[in-house]
Amino acid sequence: MNSDDFRQWSRRAADWGADYRNTLRERPVRPLVEPGDIFRSIEASPPEDAEPMDRIFADFEEKILPGMTHWQHPRFFAYFPANAAPVSVVAEYLVSAMAAQCMLWQTSPAATELETRTVDWMRQALGLPEGFSGVIQDSASSATLAAVLTMRERALDWQGNKQGLAGQARLRIYSSDQVHTSIDRAIWISGIGEDNLVRIPVGDRFLAMDTAALEAAIVADREAGMLPAGIIACVGGTSTGGTDDIAAVAEVARRHGLYLHVDAAWAGSAMICPEYRHFWTGVEGADSVVFNPHKWLGAQFDCSIQFLRDPESHVRTLAIKPDYLKTHGRDGIINYSEWSVPLGRRFRALKLWFLLRAHGLESLRTMIRNHVAWSEGLAARLASEPDFEIVSEPMLSLFSFRHNAVTDADTDAHNLRLVNAINDGGRIYLTQTKVDGRIAIRFQVGQFEATAADVDMAFTVITEIARGTA
Ligand SMILES: Cc1ncc(COP(=O)(O)O)c(C=O)c1O
Repeated sequence: MNSDDFRQWSRRAADWGADYRNTLRERPVRPLVEPGDIFRSIEASPPEDAEPMDRIFADFEEKILPGMTHWQHPRFFAYFPANAAPVSVVAEYLVSAMAAQCMLWQTSPAATELETRTVDWMRQALGLPEGFSGVIQDSASSATLAAVLTMRERALDWQGNKQGLAGQARLRIYSSDQVHTSIDRAIWISGIGEDNLVRIPVGDRFLAMDTAALEAAIVADREAGMLPAGIIACVGGTSTGGTDDIAAVAEVARRHGLYLHVDAAWAGSAMICPEYRHFWTGVEGADSVVFNPHKWLGAQFDCSIQFLRDPESHVRTLAIKPDYLKTHGRDGIINYSEWSVPLGRRFRALKLWFLLRAHGLESLRTMIRNHVAWSEGLAARLASEPDFEIVSEPMLSLFSFRHNAVTDADTDAHNLRLVNAINDGGRIYLTQTKVDGRIAIRFQVGQFEATAADVDMAFTVITEIARGTA
């Protein structure tokens, strides 16, 4: 592609992006395709000769677009959002054009220093105390893996990376059963093993870990000759928003000298609003906190910030040549590849910088407050319908509900049919979960362009289809 073509096709892509965003409401949120449809539509062998861009672009529109789930659709109420504010997309165009590999300060000084600055902006925006520094990871899963590896190394006096786990004391990590599966995977990959992830029972409305049970488990494990290494707490669990009492958990961690990692991948964005910070009171006692600006805040995927109270043990665990006494910003040079599992790194800070400047914190707060209010409003409307039941009350903008059909005694099967029928209709997109072993339908509103009218439409679609399928 020569320079003129590059210019022309980049413009075409930008125009396409703007048109796409403007027409999202006209599209079904989830595509109406069957498994294999797209695969079969793509030539089985790669082309030997160059093809014209017109044809490639036309194929993108004809073959690929109809098979996409539209995550930026204002009526995407499934999973958690993966918001990409248009301004962060613009920043990503620039990042793509420069295509820098930002593993070391010297491989991209501006990327490194902007990362340090924007992470600190976010620290201030979330109300975390001075002294926390951090790094932008690709995902919360990577941040949690890094935290679990750090727990392991601290507990083994830095011998795990060198000697492996054979012959070492049995490591133990503690969490509730409300945490995301990325915690399970971090435990697998770190070699600690699923059997050593101790699930602490939960109580109360927000499904917080029982800290007396947590403490008892740690003491019992020590007495049995095992090696407690760390605790993973969550704020805004994926299923129904389960949230630990961070202050109480941090106190247990402090008393027992354990590393505490807090997963606030989704809910962390809401902490830009001071009135929601009670959900993570005591977070300053954590060693590591992850939150994903790529979920609710609007920074195009991928962008996950891991805050660290003291990066030394983190870098000592991950840096291939541990230079931890000289770096960490204290001598002015940070090589962020020493703070992450992958060596190579994208320039992720630019989109965050564009986003925060173009919107300002106050408008992002308004967006989040609106989402919470609309979600609470929808939960209240459904609760007042005789055939609906709220299964988990709103935690920020997430709640779950169930439809009780008089004509169908198998409520689980009925609700699964309902969620599928809703999604096949294409007007809104929802997902299901299990609460106490029974199916519930999750609802969260968090999409950047969502309006109160979109949430109203969700009420109409849910009640219409539920009664039609009952
Ligand atoms: C609470 C929580 N933690 C972690 C994750 C994993 O996030 P990522 O995709 O950034 O690894 C998710 C994903 O939805 C989540 O909801």
